[in-house]
Amino acid sequence: MRAAIDHVRSASGALAERLFATRKLTLDLSAPLSDADATIQPFPDASPAKWHLAHTTWFFETFVLRDHVRGYEPFDERWAYLFNSYYEAEGPRHARPRRGMLSRPSLDQVRAYRAHVDEALDRALPSLSPVLLELVELGINHEQQHQELFLTDILATFAENPLEPAYGDLAAPTCFATEPLSWHRGREGIVEIGAAAEQFAFDSERPRHRVFLSGHELAGRRVTNMEWREFIDDGGYRTPALWLSDGWAWVRQEGVSAPLYWREDGTQFTLGGRRERDQAAPVAHVSYYEADAFARWAGARLPTESEWEDFAASADPMIGNQLDEPGAVAPRAGGGVFGDVWEWTQSAFSPYPGFAPAEGAVGEYNGKFMVNQMVLRGSSCATPPGHERATYRNFFPPAARWQFSGLRLAKDAQC
Ligand SMILES: [Fe+2]
Repeated sequence: MRAAIDHVRSASGALAERLFATRKLTLDLSAPLSDADATIQPFPDASPAKWHLAHTTWFFETFVLRDHVRGYEPFDERWAYLFNSYYEAEGPRHARPRRGMLSRPSLDQVRAYRAHVDEALDRALPSLSPVLLELVELGINHEQQHQELFLTDILATFAENPLEPAYGDLAAPTCFATEPLSWHRGREGIVEIGAAAEQFAFDSERPRHRVFLSGHELAGRRVTNMEWREFIDDGGYRTPALWLSDGWAWVRQEGVSAPLYWREDGTQFTLGGRRERDQAAPVAHVSYYEADAFARWAGARLPTESEWEDFAASADPMIGNQLDEPGAVAPRAGGGVFGDVWEWTQSAFSPYPGFAPAEGAVGEYNGKFMVNQMVLRGSSCATPPGHERATYRNFFPPAARWQFSGLRLAKDAQC
């Protein structure tokens, strides 16, 4: 019994360290911003920086402190209406497309809200049960997701400003800068994908289950800006036969002719302001529709998420997928599946066989979004360190492209 209590205490100590490091990082991300910078909402799907700071705090306040810590006093009860994102069980909320209208509370008041909740969490952590510590873990991962959205949303905000302000010096996507395209034969047969029970994962990554992979090959690196330029020069955006019907309608309606943030003079708007476009860098800020059309133009296709995950697992033997066939040899992938840009897959975001949403109010976290969204795998230059894993299923609607989204090609194996 004593050993079990000590185990919980040391686990909560490590968790506290990660919790407050994560909370501090979010605050640090807001340091370069004025109140006005943090209030703007560049379009309905992106949120103001101030809203991200407050909503991640509301998550802990609501699901941990309010529900489970006796005597907790909310910072301001009216704010729940402002900072609930999409939880129907938590009642009505401020309309998402109007988050940018919230000039009050001020950025400083939101920072005070964060300090209030952090102090309460610090006091409560040592006495939280293992089940509640799991909720704190979810809150940490939730806040890390919002750290990435914070950066992509502030990029969209500054991109609206003709003065082209620079937010900071986040590295632009750069890896595989000079690597020629190579192809890696994937495994054929029954493999397992999905998160194992003992590690943290979102509910959508579970259960681990078996899938069948047909013979296939994956590119050893992502598609580059130079290759995307060739697609444009070859009339890629003007050739309807390359596009899905919905994608072609989107191109026509939105007048799309290049990745988001590309400028006609060979530059690109980045978090560091306008920069020369690195031709060898992975292309970023393309939609699923664009990725799919490019793959068709290149005589290839997008990978399925199962192919991608098995590729990532074979690149990192610690992840350790096993073929059912004895004696089968895992291919050596080129590594580098994380960082730089998320990779679109051809898989729809749908439940794995046996999927069960998390219990309680956080059951709304993923499951209700499992329609009209495509899965992206990997991570990006804006993903906070330690947040990436091979089983991670990011998802966005097929027209979305303000994330750091790119692609890796795949093709069916030659017999
Ligand atoms: Fe959220």
